[in-house]
Amino acid sequence: MDRILIVDFGSQVTQLIARRVRESGVYCEIVPFNSAEKAFEDMQPKAVILSGGPNSVADIDTPRAPDIILASGLPILGICYGQQTLCAQLGGSVEQSDEREFGRAMLDVTGASPLFDGIDGDEIQVWMSHGDRVNNLPDGFSVVGTSENAPFAAIADEVRKIYGVQFHPEVVHTPDGAKMLENFTHVIAGCKGDWSMAAFRDKAIADIRAQVGDGRVICGLSGGVDSSVVAVLLHEAIGEQLTCVYVDTGMMRAGESEQVVGLFRDHFNIKLVHKDASELFLGKLDSVSDPEQKRKIIGSTFIDVFEEEANAIGGADFLAQGTLYPDVIESVSFTGGPSVTIKSHHNVGGLPERMNMQLVEPVRELFKDEVRALGQELGLPEAFVGRHPFPGPGLAIRIPGEITSEKLEILRKADTVYLDEIRNHGLYDEIWQAFAVLLPVRTVGVMGDSRTYDYVCGLRAVTSTDGMTADYFPFSHEFLGRVSTRIINEVRGINRVVYDITSKPPGTIEWE
Ligand code: XMP
Repeated sequence: MDRILIVDFGSQVTQLIARRVRESGVYCEIVPFNSAEKAFEDMQPKAVILSGGPNSVADIDTPRAPDIILASGLPILGICYGQQTLCAQLGGSVEQSDEREFGRAMLDVTGASPLFDGIDGDEIQVWMSHGDRVNNLPDGFSVVGTSENAPFAAIADEVRKIYGVQFHPEVVHTPDGAKMLENFTHVIAGCKGDWSMAAFRDKAIADIRAQVGDGRVICGLSGGVDSSVVAVLLHEAIGEQLTCVYVDTGMMRAGESEQVVGLFRDHFNIKLVHKDASELFLGKLDSVSDPEQKRKIIGSTFIDVFEEEANAIGGADFLAQGTLYPDVIESVSFTGGPSVTIKSHHNVGGLPERMNMQLVEPVRELFKDEVRALGQELGLPEAFVGRHPFPGPGLAIRIPGEITSEKLEILRKADTVYLDEIRNHGLYDEIWQAFAVLLPVRTVGVMGDSRTYDYVCGLRAVTSTDGMTADYFPFSHEFLGRVSTRIINEVRGINRVVYDITSKPPGTIEWE
């Protein structure tokens, strides 16, 4: 399998380079610059891409590309800071320019290069974001593209197959950028482009078998896409050695438990323990209203129940988790010096050590939409694969303040009506996440001839690519009016509906 190594110098958009490369059928990994040398030796890539980054080559102690990479003879593409350090390290020079360039710019193609294969015209729209710029090329390089403020906007040493671009080909604002990256990986580096979900699935199954041997694996199912995909993949790999545990916390959406049990136990024939622990959870949450405390109680109760159920079936050697690539990328942090930050959200954190288990994380190299594609490859129903994300603490964080079973019931009904309308209007797949919130506020209303004093229901719907930032969804007034009428008519306990038009930031997606 062909591989591309992406050396990360801390750009906000390094992940997008990986996305584009994988979309063109080539496997790649992102590695921080300070561990790139070892990764290069281990990975044996076909080519290397150097990312952008916030530093200035003119500063002291700036990050550098490992010499072993520059001397390897492999094709290299430097993007923005990557281009600058490439030039500085190979004998050219970089200056801090007064004419900074941020945003859209036009690239004049001034020289022929395979980088531009299949792209029409001599003017290409690109996205710039730089203060520094190259002002003296290393030996062997020539200019193949210029922009108004960057005379060396695209450079190439066609003999050594080393390229540099001042702009960002990985962002959508460079419409031909994906083609340029594909030209680099396919035409210049000769990658075959045969990485696909089918190939990933076969490799993942072989890897799981090699890791697990004849050991027993336990997998927590939440009903979410990631754990579902992991469960089905493991079942294909090791069959009866896998047991899944689904803990019903009492804070699931309407019909959720039936769907999970129906799909995994009945459809896929996967061994599944279904534990209804709703009374235990609700008891522990009684009179608790602080959001952080709710999360902590739910997290630790979840681990207790999971452990009890795992012990009841005789324990396991491995714990399978749906950790994704964005959770494990060691992104370069410049704010706290040359340290490396690792993000991780392990929903059952602490369990593996407590139960002396090793982790199996078969989708840790994938992005969310790749996991969805793998789910399709594995035959998971479309409706499951395309599900909106649902938080571990469930409806508990959609009922600000104290949680009661009465409130949970009201919220489930309102949420069902809302999502029903979203589906009926064909909007479900356009939205990252949509849900109802039950506010701890009662207001006065009038229904028929009677006065009512009932709860307020908040509706939330956002578009997003990764949940880190989000925009509220622009429903039509007609749609909002219809949902409001249906909720008030059909859900006893709610007499007022409001729509949340806060983006993230400054809001968060969930209300708690
Ligand atoms: P926020 O509310 O932080 O949410 O904008 C971003 C994404 O994360 C989900 N979320 C959680 N997921 N445990 C989870 O497993 C949690 O405690 C939690 N809080 C938020 C949220 O649904 C959204 O997709």
